[in-house]
Amino acid sequence: MDPVRREARGPVALLVLDRPKALNALDTAMLRALAARCAELAEDRSVRAVVLTGEGRAFAAGADIAEMRGHDPLEAERFSRLGHSTLAALEALPVPVIAAVNGYALGGGCELALACDWIHASERARFGQPEVGLGLVPGFGGTTRLVRRVGPGWAKELVLSGEAIDAATALRIGLANRVFAEGELVAAAVAAAEKAAAKGPLAVALAKRVIQEGQDADVRTAHALEQLAFGIASASRDRAEGMDAFLARRDPRFEGR
Ligand code: CAA
Repeated sequence: MDPVRREARGPVALLVLDRPKALNALDTAMLRALAARCAELAEDRSVRAVVLTGEGRAFAAGADIAEMRGHDPLEAERFSRLGHSTLAALEALPVPVIAAVNGYALGGGCELALACDWIHASERARFGQPEVGLGLVPGFGGTTRLVRRVGPGWAKELVLSGEAIDAATALRIGLANRVFAEGELVAAAVAAAEKAAAKGPLAVALAKRVIQEGQDADVRTAHALEQLAFGIASASRDRAEGMDAFLARRDPRFEGR
């Protein structure tokens, strides 16, 4: 059975981490399956947004501790690299990716949610970086993405204390954008994804890329990237369609060209 299930919800692809007995712990097989799904989605022009969630009571309770226990340092480095490349592939998808965090998002699970564009959480979600309690440090990008999302103060508290926080705290510190009742989470995330999916796909992809690349560049370079993207978007048929539709007071029909 594929550890990452894919379901179609119109233009939205729903990815479900499907290893509930191990709380969707991220082992090599799960990471490879997720990387394969990302490669598939990157080529599929019919997909306009992605929602990632977990089966059962966890989003993902971290990298697989049983597997990691047997790693020597070189194997651990390779495993960390696999986690990094998989999350980078998810982050680089040219469509919005929403994490629907339905329960535990710990360690690698929290890092996976952070590789998504934004996070919707259920009321029973719990976020944390408990690695130091295992004598380990975050290994799938937690030291960088978490700092960017919540700032160094909260990132350090989470990573250095290893203590988890609840959904209300995650909302307050900007880790989660919104919180929903448990039974409403996935539908709400899909509805948000559908809204983004209805917008100009080229513009969405360009805006995502500029935000992504711009945050690691100096401000002048980031501004230049934005100006170039603005120019490129203006050469698209979607931009003509979007503006014509606005002026004619009708809904736009975007083609992604
Ligand atoms: N790896 C492997 N198996 C895991 C796991 C993990 N990260 N988390 C949970 N499981 C397994 C448990 O071993 C258990 O399996 P068995 O039924 O076969 O014993 C099953 O999932 C259910 O877990 P619990 O019985 O522990 O469930 P609980 O409700 O009592 O506790 C929990 C839930 C608090 C999330 C607890 O499971 C837990 O603390 N998990 C580990 C969390 C963690 O430390 N994550 C960080 C991992 S390191 C990391 O991720 C490094 C990195 O950055 C890349």
